[in-house]
Order: sequence, then structure tokens, then C-alpha cells
Amino acid sequence: MAFLDGYKYAAFLSFVAFTVFSTSVADNASSHSTAFLHPESKFRQVRKFHPVRKTGGFSYSPEPTVALDYHFGPVMTGRNDVIKMFVIYYGHFSRKQKRVLSHFFKSFSQNETQELHKPTTEKWWGLTRQYVDLYETPVAARLVYEGEKSNNYSLGASLNQSDIQTLVVKSLESFGASSRSMYLVLTSEDVLVERFCQNVCGTHFFTFPSDATNDQMLPYAWIGNPAKQCPEICAWPYAPGGFLKEGLIPPNGDAGIDGMIITVANLLAAMGTNPFGNGYYREDGLAAAAVCQGVYGDKAYSGYPGNLLVDKSTNASFNVYGYKDSKFLVPFMWDPATQQCALQA
Ligand SMILES: *[C@@H]1O[C@H](CO)[C@@H](O)[C@H](O)[C@H]1NC(C)=O
Ligand SMILES: *[C@@H]1O[C@H](CO)[C@@H](O)[C@H](O)[C@H]1NC(C)=O
Ligand SMILES: *[C@@H]1O[C@H](CO)[C@@H](O)[C@H](O)[C@H]1NC(C)=O
Ligand SMILES: *[C@@H]1O[C@H](CO)[C@@H](O)[C@H](O)[C@H]1NC(C)=O
Ligand SMILES: *[C@@H]1O[C@H](CO)[C@@H](O)[C@H](O)[C@H]1NC(C)=O
Repeated sequence: MAFLDGYKYAAFLSFVAFTVFSTSVADNASSHSTAFLHPESKFRQVRKFHPVRKTGGFSYSPEPTVALDYHFGPVMTGRNDVIKMFVIYYGHFSRKQKRVLSHFFKSFSQNETQELHKPTTEKWWGLTRQYVDLYETPVAARLVYEGEKSNNYSLGASLNQSDIQTLVVKSLESFGASSRSMYLVLTSEDVLVERFCQNVCGTHFFTFPSDATNDQMLPYAWIGNPAKQCPEICAWPYAPGGFLKEGLIPPNGDAGIDGMIITVANLLAAMGTNPFGNGYYREDGLAAAAVCQGVYGDKAYSGYPGNLLVDKSTNASFNVYGYKDSKFLVPFMWDPATQQCALQA
């Protein structure tokens, strides 16, 4: 399979099939994932960035060869059109950090009708409705934040990828095991995780059937807080990189957490549409949102995130509204209906 080729972006370890690569264009490794946006953009002149309001539509048209292939496996259809999310906070997260993250997780189960004229996390998730399985059943409409736990460094401050899976399996005693749910492990900024910041910002995979998983394969993801270890890679555009001389102002005042949310979103989309590695992904292994990497707004190009919304009271940049009008930045997602990267359905 093509996604086994090349360490830098294929990244297939025995237990890590799928990864989210840096959105940074500061290093050449990522030029692969952004190259399709505008092959010539590397040569464009540096231009000053001014946060500006959205001026036009949100859809973005990359090269037409981006299309994701369906590999005939399941997508996450949920139960009654709902996917439950369970979150493990590993290490030290402040109350405020947990609040911001939990607001993001609560942003996928609101009433859609309430936010008619705004881009929202739910309309963003709505793009996954275009991804259907063999029976034409789409990815579940809603994600519900069902449970959380904190873990005070039970496995130390340096984890490998199998430790992540261990944490997920341990959590099942309280969360319960369901292959229709998503399990997330979030590590704090001081926790070292195998391959974090070397070539990934987060990974997703699934447990193998065992007694502990009630004989199921459970989709899970890990995302690290990059604030100290590699903000320029995993918190971009809230840290300098590409054509940004300075990071943009993060909507929740925390570049690490706001950056982490970008990766969380990326992996939610990947899990929803490719939970077991045989759903939707491109030849190079990149899934729904990862193929639009680096695109956050209209007129994006490699190294420039695109035109974003700006919060007038703080000058922070974002592109969607969530729970209780909170603000977040999410990556564009491939929209199979229009064959474009888009922000919302
Ligand atoms: C990218 O690659 C070019 C040529 O291969 C090299 O000159 C440049 O230093 C590299 N940049 C980084 C950030 O590695
Ligand atoms: C919409 O909101 C109302 C009131 O907040 C609630 O009762 C209802 O269950 C919600 N509907 C959905 C689909 O979430
Ligand atoms: C977490 O562990 C650290 C030491 O690793 C300890 O100092 C701290 O008190 C613990 N916090 C809680 C809430 O148990
Ligand atoms: C991961 O780390 C644990 C200790 O935390 C160790 O027992 C295990 O062998 C490691 N796994 C791999 C694949 O390196
Ligand atoms: C936002 O940016 C404008 C223009 O650069 C500046 O005048 C204003 O003081 C900024 N507001 C805040 C809260 O920083």
C-alpha cells in the first residue's frame, strides 16, 4: 500500500497506522501534505498577514487529484446517529484548559437551527455526512461528550504509542467498551510521547479485540499539547511558521490548547471516516481533513492559513463557533459532494 512508503509521511508503526502531520510549512517534510494546495506557492513572496474577515465562500479548490478513495470498510455510523466521545486528560491540565477542551467536545451536539448564519463546529462535522459505508449509511450526525477522566501521570511523563493504547484499555472499566464510540487521550505540554513533534501532532488507531475490549476493535486517538515542544509545527497558525512572522492570536488565549484543538478536529474527522484503516483515505494515507492540511480559510495557500474570522474584542482568529458561542479553529475537510476542501456542509 502506498501509505507504507516513506517514513516522514507514511508513518506506519505496528500500532500506529494513521497520523496527523504537522500543518507547518516551516519544514520541508510537510511540503508533501500541502503541496497540492498550490504547487507554486513555495515561490510566492512573503506577505504580511492581517487578520481579515471572511469575504466570500468558505470552499476551497485544490488540485482535482485530491479525491479520497473508499476502501469498503466501516465508517463510524454510531448508534441512533450518535457517536459517544470519551476523553482522558493525561498529565497536568489547568481547569481553564479543560474547560476550553470540553467546550470544544460539547460543540457537536447542539441544535443546528440555532446558528443559521454562522459557521459552526456542527456544520463542519456535517461534511462527514457525505461519507457513507457500503450500505449507504453515513457517519453519525452527532458527537456527544459522554465522559472524561484525569490521569495523574500513572505511566510517567514519557509515553510510547503502546502506552496510549494501554491508557485507553484501562479506561474502559469506567467508560465501557463500544466500537461505536471514540476514545481520546490528551497529553499535557510536559508529557513526551513517542514521535510527537518529530513527525506527528497526534495519531489514531484502534484496539485489537481482547477480553478487556469486550472482543471489539475500538477507535482511539491521542493528541499532545504542543505548547512547549513544537508550537511552530503543531500549534500553527497560533505560532510563527510559513508566512506568519508571528503567531495569530488564539481564540481561547492558549496557543497550545487552541493548536491542539486543530489536531483533535483533524483526528475526529479521520476516525469518523476511517476508523479501522479501511474507510476513506487518499493514496498517501491522509484522511478527510488531513488532505486539506494548512487550509483554514478562504484564499489559503501553503504557509498562509487563509482569511479567518476575527474576534473584535480580542483580535483572535478563528473559523467556527461552538458550544455557548465559543470560538475555535478547525481544518477544512474534503467535501465529496463538491470535490473541494470546505469548512461546512
Ligand atoms: C528545504 O529544502 C531546501 C532544499 O532542499 C533547503 O535548502 C532548505 O534549507 C530546507 N528547509 C528546511 C526548513 O529544512
Ligand atoms: C434542541 O434544544 C432544545 C432546547 O434547548 C432541546 O430540548 C432539544 O432536545 C434539542 N434538540 C436536539 C436535536 O438537540
Ligand atoms: C499528581 O502527581 C504529582 C507528582 O507526580 C503530585 O505532586 C501531585 O500532587 C499529584 N496531583 C494529584 C491531583 O494527585
Ligand atoms: C512502551 O513502554 C513500556 C513502558 O512504559 C514498555 O513496557 C513497552 O515495551 C514499550 N513498548 C514499545 C513497543 O516500545
Ligand atoms: C486589535 O487590532 C487593532 C488594529 O491592529 C488595534 O487597533 C486594537 O487595539 C487591537 N485590539 C486589541 C484588543 O488588541
